[in-house]
Amino acid sequence: MDLDLVTTLRSTGAARQFHPDPVPDGVLARLLDTARFAPSGGNRQGWRVIVVKDPVKRAALRDLYLSGWYEYLAIGAAGLVPWAPVTDRAAEARAVAQAPRFAEAGAATPGFAETLDAAPALLLVLADLTALAAVDRDLPRYTLVGGASVYPFVWSLLLAARAEGLGGVTTTVAIRRESDVRALFEVPETLAVAALVVLGRPVAQPTRLKRAPVGSFASIDRYDGAPLTAP
Ligand SMILES: Cc1cc2nc3c(=O)[nH]c(=O)nc-3n(C[C@H](O)[C@H](O)[C@H](O)COP(=O)(O)O)c2cc1C
Repeated sequence: MDLDLVTTLRSTGAARQFHPDPVPDGVLARLLDTARFAPSGGNRQGWRVIVVKDPVKRAALRDLYLSGWYEYLAIGAAGLVPWAPVTDRAAEARAVAQAPRFAEAGAATPGFAETLDAAPALLLVLADLTALAAVDRDLPRYTLVGGASVYPFVWSLLLAARAEGLGGVTTTVAIRRESDVRALFEVPETLAVAALVVLGRPVAQPTRLKRAPVGSFASIDRYDGAPLTAP
């Protein structure tokens, strides 16, 4: 599929519903062959990928995902940003206690999360912690920079998928259970789980995306300076 770059960047939404046809290994390899040109700090390319095919592992991964997913729903329903580094932890803990209610609702009406194991392709993306230039590692705040050496790769993977008429979504809620995910795939402790990328031929490719305007997040000269306005 020939897609103009800017149009693609403005219109590649998360796809969570797929036709059942599998994504052949050759196609996955081709997508990764494109994604590997993503930038990383010092060009260390610390990403690793596990293609999850085994139905038993897929079901176990779905269950780990669901554990985080129901917490996500419960925290969001309480009006909080799920797991924000700066948040009201006590309110978050109270919200998480409500997660079983969301699990009941999910069991009654299964959606993307409950049927994750049936998705055409599941790619677990890992980050080699010995290869990340995490320059904010020693700051007295939540660290952020390490991920920037892996998530451009993840996004390139999704863009490469779009170019092939495929779609998907970056997911992270399973990382709430990272040690279980690591154990399931025999991943050494020197690697972090960065994402579970779900891919397939989307039933519909969402292209009208809701995003805040430039002036709401870009300012001139000061944090609360004059908004930069888009033409
Ligand atoms: C770092 C990251 C983590 C995400 N985690 C999840 C997830 O665990 N589950 C999920 O369904 N979507 C997840 N998403 C997808 C976002 O919900 C999605 O990108 C966002 O809502 C915008 O959707 P749109 O592109 O369809 O407008 C994640 C996206 C990013 C970038």
